[in-house]
Amino acid sequence: MLILSIETSCDETALSLVEAKGEFPHATYDILGNALWSQIDIHREYGGVFPMMAKREHVATIVPMLEKALTESGLEGRESSNEIDEYLEVELRKILEREPLLIETLFAFHKKYGSYDIDLIAVTSGPGLEPALWVGVNFARALALLWNTPIVPVNHMEGHVLSSVFDIERDDMLSDIAFPTISLLISGGHTELILMSDWGKYEKIGQTRDDAVGEAYDKVARMLGLQYPGGPEIAKRAEKARKEKLPEFAKLPTPMLNSGDLDFSFSGLKTAVRYAVQDKTLSEADICAAARDFEDAVTTVLLKKSLMAVEKHGAQTLIVGGGVSANQHLKRMFEAKFLSEHPDLTVYFPQPKLSTDNSIMIALAGHARAVSALAPRGADVIRADGNKSLA
Ligand code: KG4
Ligand code: ZN
Repeated sequence: MLILSIETSCDETALSLVEAKGEFPHATYDILGNALWSQIDIHREYGGVFPMMAKREHVATIVPMLEKALTESGLEGRESSNEIDEYLEVELRKILEREPLLIETLFAFHKKYGSYDIDLIAVTSGPGLEPALWVGVNFARALALLWNTPIVPVNHMEGHVLSSVFDIERDDMLSDIAFPTISLLISGGHTELILMSDWGKYEKIGQTRDDAVGEAYDKVARMLGLQYPGGPEIAKRAEKARKEKLPEFAKLPTPMLNSGDLDFSFSGLKTAVRYAVQDKTLSEADICAAARDFEDAVTTVLLKKSLMAVEKHGAQTLIVGGGVSANQHLKRMFEAKFLSEHPDLTVYFPQPKLSTDNSIMIALAGHARAVSALAPRGADVIRADGNKSLA
């Protein structure tokens, strides 16, 4: 099954062409083409992502990324099919009426390459920034109609779960995981603990009551004068502070550590950093030490709640996913702790290049959901939903 996947939920415009051989969850996945355009340099200037700006960038780059992914795959369009009849043109213009620039680039693309024989289009429909999501969703609907291809909406967070167990280095398959499984999903918009009784069966058992971890990383980075996105910047400084054994910069709280439930809160920690740094001129050593103190507090809370969730539900597997799972300190701490306390449990973190947003994970989730694919004309019911939930 040839899958074209499309991800535009935040600040990456990502499209892949993936060939799935076999049935989910035992398939192998060949990544034939993969294109990702990161808008980070544009958003960095403003210290964060503005949805309308993200949308504009997706509109400008989605066709070039499609072209890149398809060219890389070596797949060729059927040039003989490059005419668009009047009726189809009206329908396509309707689908993309809010993205007039996109319709012209799509028509030019189609004139050049014709239709592609693809079995499934998988597109992120949420959660994420709605204006950004709509670009991917409407573009996917237009392509589905143009190429007469079934389409399936995908939950971005399910993509993160699957990308953490995707063994891209060894055999291009999903790892054979044992249930029940606990998933800790940590990204720019989410912090949640999910109980999985099987593939696709999710129950939310804990979540943040205010900021997401990634959001806290980004905001604290800003207080420390570091660039967006803050995660990698803080991580780098924190590692330096550990290596150089810098003294504690501030005593920071570990919010809700002993709340007894599986919920989180990070806004108090963020505020504590603000108080600790305000009216101070920070040296490079101060910044590194503050970054480490913050990261240690975050790690302590995430580790304790994940351990509680695993023990409460007798989990055999722990999956950590979402952009913050790129954090190597977090990974080391989780692996060491679970190895010593639950040696029978397997802990999964994503390969570094699959930890932040990408479209390979959307192809995996699309394959998992392929049975619920809609015929191209049924794609009208697919809507972007910024708050789409896993469970
Ligand atoms: O999953 P993701 O790419 O996008 C969302 O779905 O939100 O996650 C982005 C978040 C950002 O907040 C970023 O600062 C954080 O992941 N992040 C990290 C690291 N790399 C990215 N946080 C901590 N350590 C990292 N190495
Ligand atoms: Zn994400």
